[in-house]
Amino acid sequence: MDTSELDRELEKKNLSGFWRTRVPFHRPELPFLWNWREVRDALMKAKDSIGIELAERRAIRLVSPHVPGKSTSHTLQFTFSIVNPGEVARTHRHNMAAIRFVVQGKGAYTTVEGEQFPMEEGDLILTPNWTWHDHFNGSAEPIIWLDGLDGPMIQSLNVLFFDQYEKEVQDHTRREGESARRLGFARRPTAIENERRGVPFRYKWKETYESLKTPKESEADPFDGHLIRYINPATGGFTLPTMSCEVQSLRAGISTKAHRHTSTTLYHVFRGRGRTAVGEGHLEWEKGDTFVVPLWQWHRHENSSGEEAILFSINDRPIMQALELYREES
Ligand SMILES: [Fe+2]
Repeated sequence: MDTSELDRELEKKNLSGFWRTRVPFHRPELPFLWNWREVRDALMKAKDSIGIELAERRAIRLVSPHVPGKSTSHTLQFTFSIVNPGEVARTHRHNMAAIRFVVQGKGAYTTVEGEQFPMEEGDLILTPNWTWHDHFNGSAEPIIWLDGLDGPMIQSLNVLFFDQYEKEVQDHTRREGESARRLGFARRPTAIENERRGVPFRYKWKETYESLKTPKESEADPFDGHLIRYINPATGGFTLPTMSCEVQSLRAGISTKAHRHTSTTLYHVFRGRGRTAVGEGHLEWEKGDTFVVPLWQWHRHENSSGEEAILFSINDRPIMQALELYREES
Protein backbone atom coordinates (compact mmCIF):
# COMPACT_ATOMS: atom_id res chain seq x y z
CA MET A 1 0.00 0.00 0.00
CA ASP A 2 1.48 3.39 -0.94
CA THR A 3 1.42 6.31 1.54
CA SER A 4 -1.23 8.39 -0.24
CA GLU A 5 -3.57 5.42 -0.38
CA LEU A 6 -3.08 4.85 3.35
CA ASP A 7 -3.63 8.58 4.01
CA ARG A 8 -6.97 8.47 2.18
CA GLU A 9 -8.01 5.40 4.08
CA LEU A 10 -7.10 6.98 7.41
CA GLU A 11 -8.98 10.17 6.54
CA LYS A 12 -12.17 8.19 5.89
CA LYS A 13 -11.80 6.68 9.37
CA ASN A 14 -11.18 10.11 10.98
CA LEU A 15 -7.56 9.28 11.67
CA SER A 16 -4.37 11.06 10.75
CA GLY A 17 -0.86 9.72 10.37
CA PHE A 18 1.88 11.61 12.16
CA TRP A 19 3.86 11.74 8.90
CA ARG A 20 1.15 14.16 7.71
CA THR A 21 1.03 16.29 10.85
CA ARG A 22 2.95 19.51 11.19
CA VAL A 23 3.50 20.59 14.79
CA PRO A 24 2.27 24.18 15.17
CA PHE A 25 5.26 25.69 16.98
CA HIS A 26 5.08 29.15 18.52
CA ARG A 27 4.51 31.83 15.88
CA PRO A 28 5.90 35.22 16.85
CA GLU A 29 3.15 37.83 17.32
CA LEU A 30 3.55 41.52 16.64
CA PRO A 31 3.15 44.29 19.21
CA PHE A 32 0.51 46.98 18.79
CA LEU A 33 -0.28 50.42 20.21
CA TRP A 34 -3.60 52.26 20.51
CA ASN A 35 -3.31 56.00 20.55
CA TRP A 36 -5.24 57.76 23.33
CA ARG A 37 -6.54 60.54 21.08
CA GLU A 38 -8.32 57.97 18.89
CA VAL A 39 -9.65 55.95 21.84
CA ARG A 40 -10.84 59.09 23.64
CA ASP A 41 -12.51 60.41 20.51
CA ALA A 42 -14.35 57.10 20.06
CA LEU A 43 -15.45 57.13 23.72
CA MET A 44 -16.75 60.70 23.41
CA LYS A 45 -18.81 59.74 20.37
CA ALA A 46 -20.15 56.60 22.09
CA LYS A 47 -21.04 58.65 25.20
CA ASP A 48 -23.46 60.76 23.12
CA SER A 49 -24.80 58.15 20.73
CA ILE A 50 -24.96 54.79 22.53
CA GLY A 51 -27.59 54.35 25.23
CA ILE A 52 -26.18 52.39 28.14
CA GLU A 53 -29.46 50.43 28.35
CA LEU A 54 -28.91 49.44 24.71
CA ALA A 55 -25.63 47.69 25.29
CA GLU A 56 -24.86 45.72 28.41
CA ARG A 57 -21.89 48.08 28.86
CA ARG A 58 -20.86 51.20 26.96
CA ALA A 59 -17.42 49.82 26.32
CA ILE A 60 -14.96 49.82 23.44
CA ARG A 61 -12.64 46.88 22.98
CA LEU A 62 -9.04 47.20 21.85
CA VAL A 63 -8.64 44.87 18.89
CA SER A 64 -5.16 43.92 17.74
CA PRO A 65 -4.90 43.41 13.97
CA HIS A 66 -2.36 40.67 14.71
CA VAL A 67 -4.66 38.51 16.85
CA PRO A 68 -7.57 36.46 15.47
CA GLY A 69 -11.05 36.81 16.99
CA LYS A 70 -11.23 40.59 17.64
CA SER A 71 -9.21 40.55 20.78
CA THR A 72 -6.43 42.55 22.41
CA SER A 73 -4.35 39.42 22.90
CA HIS A 74 -4.95 35.66 22.73
CA THR A 75 -5.58 35.44 26.50
CA LEU A 76 -6.45 38.87 27.91
CA GLN A 77 -8.50 41.78 26.75
CA PHE A 78 -8.70 45.50 27.45
CA THR A 79 -11.83 47.60 26.95
CA PHE A 80 -12.49 51.22 27.89
CA SER A 81 -15.82 52.02 29.51
CA ILE A 82 -17.49 55.39 29.78
CA VAL A 83 -20.42 56.09 32.09
CA ASN A 84 -22.32 59.38 32.04
CA PRO A 85 -23.45 61.24 35.18
CA GLY A 86 -26.40 59.49 36.82
CA GLU A 87 -26.07 56.35 34.70
CA VAL A 88 -26.10 52.77 35.89
CA ALA A 89 -24.37 49.84 34.18
CA ARG A 90 -26.74 47.05 35.25
CA THR A 91 -25.91 44.09 37.47
CA HIS A 92 -24.55 40.91 35.96
CA ARG A 93 -21.95 38.26 36.63
CA HIS A 94 -19.76 36.06 34.48
CA ASN A 95 -16.97 33.59 34.94
CA MET A 96 -14.55 35.92 33.24
CA ALA A 97 -12.57 37.62 35.95
CA ALA A 98 -12.35 41.39 35.54
CA ILE A 99 -10.49 44.36 36.89
CA ARG A 100 -11.27 48.09 36.59
CA PHE A 101 -8.53 50.69 36.53
CA VAL A 102 -9.89 54.24 36.71
CA VAL A 103 -8.37 56.39 33.97
CA GLN A 104 -10.31 59.62 34.36
CA GLY A 105 -12.98 60.95 36.68
CA LYS A 106 -14.24 60.25 40.19
CA GLY A 107 -17.40 59.97 42.25
CA ALA A 108 -18.53 56.68 40.71
CA TYR A 109 -19.03 53.33 42.41
CA THR A 110 -18.70 49.71 41.47
CA THR A 111 -20.82 47.44 43.61
CA VAL A 112 -19.44 43.92 43.93
CA GLU A 113 -21.37 41.26 45.87
CA GLY A 114 -23.39 43.88 47.74
CA GLU A 115 -20.48 46.14 48.66
CA GLN A 116 -19.85 49.57 47.18
CA PHE A 117 -16.31 50.41 46.07
CA PRO A 118 -15.60 54.08 45.28
CA MET A 119 -13.85 54.74 41.99
CA GLU A 120 -11.23 57.47 41.91
CA GLU A 121 -8.52 58.08 39.34
CA GLY A 122 -5.82 55.39 39.57
CA ASP A 123 -7.88 53.03 41.74
CA LEU A 124 -7.94 49.35 40.88
CA ILE A 125 -11.08 47.35 41.66
CA LEU A 126 -11.38 43.57 41.38
CA THR A 127 -14.52 41.75 40.30
CA PRO A 128 -13.43 38.12 40.54
CA ASN A 129 -14.94 35.31 38.52
CA TRP A 130 -18.73 34.92 39.17
CA THR A 131 -19.22 37.95 41.43
CA TRP A 132 -22.27 40.18 40.87
CA HIS A 133 -21.25 43.66 39.82
CA ASP A 134 -22.79 46.92 38.65
CA HIS A 135 -21.50 50.43 38.20
CA PHE A 136 -23.03 53.81 39.02
CA ASN A 137 -21.75 57.28 38.24
CA GLY A 138 -22.97 59.67 40.92
CA SER A 139 -20.74 62.54 39.83
CA ALA A 140 -21.40 65.46 37.48
CA GLU A 141 -18.78 64.34 34.93
CA PRO A 142 -18.43 61.23 32.77
CA ILE A 143 -16.05 58.64 34.15
CA ILE A 144 -13.67 56.51 32.05
CA TRP A 145 -12.07 53.31 33.22
CA LEU A 146 -10.10 50.49 31.75
CA ASP A 147 -11.55 46.97 32.03
CA GLY A 148 -9.11 44.08 31.97
CA LEU A 149 -10.63 40.65 31.35
CA ASP A 150 -9.46 37.09 30.82
CA GLY A 151 -12.30 36.64 28.29
CA PRO A 152 -10.29 35.35 25.30
CA MET A 153 -8.75 32.62 27.48
CA ILE A 154 -12.12 31.62 28.97
CA GLN A 155 -13.67 31.56 25.48
CA SER A 156 -10.86 29.41 24.10
CA LEU A 157 -11.74 26.87 26.83
CA ASN A 158 -15.40 27.11 25.73
CA VAL A 159 -16.47 27.58 29.32
CA LEU A 160 -17.94 31.10 29.30
CA PHE A 161 -21.05 31.58 31.45
CA PHE A 162 -23.05 34.74 32.01
CA ASP A 163 -25.91 35.63 34.35
CA GLN A 164 -28.26 38.60 34.47
CA TYR A 165 -29.46 39.88 37.87
CA GLU A 166 -33.22 40.14 38.48
CA LYS A 167 -32.93 43.86 39.24
CA GLU A 168 -30.94 46.63 37.61
CA VAL A 169 -28.96 47.36 40.75
CA GLN A 170 -28.14 44.96 43.57
CA ASP A 171 -28.94 45.78 47.19
CA HIS A 172 -26.11 47.01 49.35
CA THR A 173 -25.82 44.20 51.84
CA ARG A 174 -22.38 45.10 53.12
CA ARG A 175 -20.95 48.31 54.46
CA GLU A 176 -18.26 50.16 52.51
CA GLY A 177 -14.82 48.83 53.45
CA GLU A 178 -16.20 45.59 54.87
CA SER A 179 -14.11 43.29 52.62
CA ALA A 180 -10.92 45.14 53.50
CA ARG A 181 -11.74 44.96 57.21
CA ARG A 182 -12.47 41.26 57.03
CA LEU A 183 -9.23 40.70 55.15
CA GLY A 184 -7.23 42.74 57.61
CA PHE A 185 -8.51 40.30 60.18
CA ALA A 186 -8.20 37.31 57.84
CA ARG A 187 -4.45 36.83 58.05
CA ARG A 188 -4.86 33.40 59.62
CA PRO A 189 -4.71 30.40 57.27
CA THR A 190 -8.23 29.13 57.96
CA ALA A 191 -9.85 32.42 57.09
CA ILE A 192 -7.67 32.71 53.99
CA GLU A 193 -8.76 29.24 52.92
CA ASN A 194 -12.41 30.30 53.05
CA GLU A 195 -11.72 33.18 50.70
CA ARG A 196 -9.65 31.19 48.21
CA ARG A 197 -12.08 31.83 45.38
CA GLY A 198 -11.19 35.50 45.21
CA VAL A 199 -12.58 38.54 46.92
CA PRO A 200 -13.79 41.90 45.72
CA PHE A 201 -11.17 44.47 46.54
CA ARG A 202 -10.17 48.09 45.95
CA TYR A 203 -6.55 49.21 45.79
CA LYS A 204 -6.61 52.97 46.37
CA TRP A 205 -4.30 54.94 44.10
CA LYS A 206 -3.04 57.07 46.98
CA GLU A 207 -1.73 53.97 48.76
CA THR A 208 -0.46 52.35 45.55
CA TYR A 209 1.52 55.46 44.66
CA GLU A 210 2.97 55.68 48.16
CA SER A 211 4.40 52.18 47.70
CA LEU A 212 5.58 52.95 44.21
CA LYS A 213 7.54 56.08 45.02
CA THR A 214 9.10 54.90 48.30
CA PRO A 215 11.95 52.69 46.92
CA LYS A 216 15.23 54.38 46.10
CA GLU A 217 16.63 54.82 42.61
CA SER A 218 19.14 52.03 43.27
CA GLU A 219 16.37 49.55 44.09
CA ALA A 220 15.02 49.48 40.53
CA ASP A 221 14.46 46.13 38.82
CA PRO A 222 16.82 45.78 35.81
CA PHE A 223 13.94 44.93 33.43
CA ASP A 224 11.01 46.88 34.83
CA GLY A 225 12.22 49.86 36.83
CA HIS A 226 10.20 50.20 40.05
CA LEU A 227 7.41 47.67 39.69
CA ILE A 228 4.84 46.49 42.19
CA ARG A 229 2.36 43.67 41.86
CA TYR A 230 -1.16 43.95 43.17
CA ILE A 231 -1.18 40.96 45.48
CA ASN A 232 -4.49 39.25 46.16
CA PRO A 233 -5.14 40.05 49.82
CA ALA A 234 -6.90 36.73 50.43
CA THR A 235 -4.35 34.39 48.88
CA GLY A 236 -1.12 36.41 49.03
CA GLY A 237 -0.56 35.35 45.41
CA PHE A 238 -1.29 36.84 42.01
CA THR A 239 -4.10 39.42 41.75
CA LEU A 240 -6.43 36.81 40.24
CA PRO A 241 -5.97 33.16 39.19
CA THR A 242 -5.79 34.16 35.52
CA MET A 243 -4.34 37.65 35.64
CA SER A 244 -1.62 39.58 37.40
CA CYS A 245 -2.04 43.36 37.73
CA GLU A 246 1.08 45.45 38.05
CA VAL A 247 2.12 49.08 38.06
CA GLN A 248 5.58 50.41 37.39
CA SER A 249 7.35 53.70 37.68
CA LEU A 250 9.97 54.43 35.06
CA ARG A 251 11.89 57.28 36.60
CA ALA A 252 13.32 60.06 34.41
CA GLY A 253 16.31 58.89 32.39
CA ILE A 254 15.89 55.15 32.99
CA SER A 255 16.72 52.58 30.32
CA THR A 256 15.99 48.98 31.29
CA LYS A 257 17.67 45.77 30.17
CA ALA A 258 15.99 43.51 27.59
CA HIS A 259 14.31 40.24 28.44
CA ARG A 260 11.56 38.00 27.10
CA HIS A 261 9.05 35.63 28.67
CA THR A 262 6.09 33.46 27.77
CA SER A 263 3.55 35.77 29.40
CA THR A 264 1.79 38.49 27.38
CA THR A 265 1.48 41.98 28.84
CA LEU A 266 -1.10 44.67 28.11
CA TYR A 267 0.10 48.14 29.18
CA HIS A 268 -1.72 51.39 29.80
CA VAL A 269 0.22 54.64 30.16
CA PHE A 270 -1.11 56.31 33.29
CA ARG A 271 1.44 59.12 33.38
CA GLY A 272 4.33 60.49 31.34
CA ARG A 273 5.88 59.28 28.12
CA GLY A 274 8.63 57.03 26.87
CA ARG A 275 9.30 54.16 24.52
CA THR A 276 9.40 50.39 24.59
CA ALA A 277 11.59 48.46 22.19
CA VAL A 278 9.82 45.23 21.16
CA GLY A 279 11.46 42.71 18.84
CA GLU A 280 12.92 44.58 15.89
CA GLY A 281 10.92 47.77 16.36
CA HIS A 282 9.77 50.08 19.10
CA LEU A 283 6.61 51.78 20.37
CA GLU A 284 6.58 55.45 21.35
CA TRP A 285 3.98 56.05 24.03
CA GLU A 286 2.47 58.87 26.06
CA LYS A 287 -0.25 59.35 28.67
CA GLY A 288 -3.45 57.48 27.79
CA ASP A 289 -1.90 55.17 25.18
CA THR A 290 -2.29 51.42 25.47
CA PHE A 291 -0.04 48.75 23.99
CA VAL A 292 0.60 45.02 23.91
CA VAL A 293 3.93 43.25 24.26
CA PRO A 294 3.28 39.73 22.97
CA LEU A 295 4.85 36.67 24.51
CA TRP A 296 8.43 35.69 23.74
CA GLN A 297 9.39 39.05 22.24
CA TRP A 298 12.51 40.76 23.52
CA HIS A 299 11.54 44.10 25.06
CA ARG A 300 12.94 46.94 27.10
CA HIS A 301 11.66 50.28 28.36
CA GLU A 302 13.13 53.76 28.13
CA ASN A 303 12.14 57.05 29.64
CA SER A 304 14.27 59.82 28.21
CA SER A 305 11.79 62.53 29.21
CA GLY A 306 12.55 64.63 32.26
CA GLU A 307 9.57 63.27 34.20
CA GLU A 308 8.45 60.04 35.81
CA ALA A 309 6.37 57.70 33.63
CA ILE A 310 3.86 55.25 35.13
CA LEU A 311 2.62 52.13 33.35
CA PHE A 312 -0.32 50.08 34.62
CA SER A 313 -0.38 46.57 33.18
CA ILE A 314 -2.06 43.19 33.23
CA ASN A 315 -0.45 39.91 32.19
CA ASP A 316 -1.31 36.22 31.94
CA ARG A 317 1.67 34.97 33.94
CA PRO A 318 -0.58 33.20 36.52
CA ILE A 319 -1.94 30.98 33.73
CA MET A 320 1.51 30.25 32.33
CA GLN A 321 2.87 29.49 35.78
CA ALA A 322 -0.05 27.30 36.80
CA LEU A 323 0.42 25.22 33.67
CA GLU A 324 4.21 25.18 34.11
CA LEU A 325 4.61 27.01 30.80
CA TYR A 326 6.30 30.10 32.14
CA ARG A 327 9.83 30.70 30.97
CA GLU A 328 12.00 33.75 30.90
CA GLU A 329 15.24 34.66 29.15
CA SER A 330 17.53 37.64 29.64
FE1 LIG B 1 -19.11 42.52 33.69
